[in-house]
Amino acid sequence: MAAPFDADQQARFDAGIAKLLSQFPNDRKQAAMMGAVRLVQELVGWVPPEGMEQVAQKLEVPVSKVLEVATFYVMFFTKKPGKYVIDVCTNISCSLCGAEKLLEGLERKLDVHAGETTADGKFTLREAECLGSCHTAPCLQINEDHHENLSLKQAEELLAKLA
Ligand code: FES
Repeated sequence: MAAPFDADQQARFDAGIAKLLSQFPNDRKQAAMMGAVRLVQELVGWVPPEGMEQVAQKLEVPVSKVLEVATFYVMFFTKKPGKYVIDVCTNISCSLCGAEKLLEGLERKLDVHAGETTADGKFTLREAECLGSCHTAPCLQINEDHHENLSLKQAEELLAKLA
């Protein structure tokens, strides 16, 4: 299997894993799983199969255990995401305030369905659970930046600034 890291990333991965493992008893290496998967994503921007393989080797677990964790939590990407990840909240408060229309409009604008990445690799559009801004619904997040009280037009303007 191809190496997921270049030489510098490999050194940082090895050091990071060693530090994580030092926090747990030798027979509890699996306890470092979340940190190890996060480390892979920090280094290469997502969690490729080769990265899962390396985590499995270091933690002495089957790759399926790493896959379980990487696919369970939405903050981990098991497919390479776009440069900008747009999370549109479609939970109840946002839904009542037009989140579906917002999401549909962005799907049309970007020519993708929720869960997909644009052909140019720039945007990944996703549905999200409550983003904690129910009182200023509807809202979305672009990478780490949060935006509230959005109309579709305002959301499109946000994207235009990134294009
Ligand atoms: S329901 Fe959308 S932020 Fe809570």
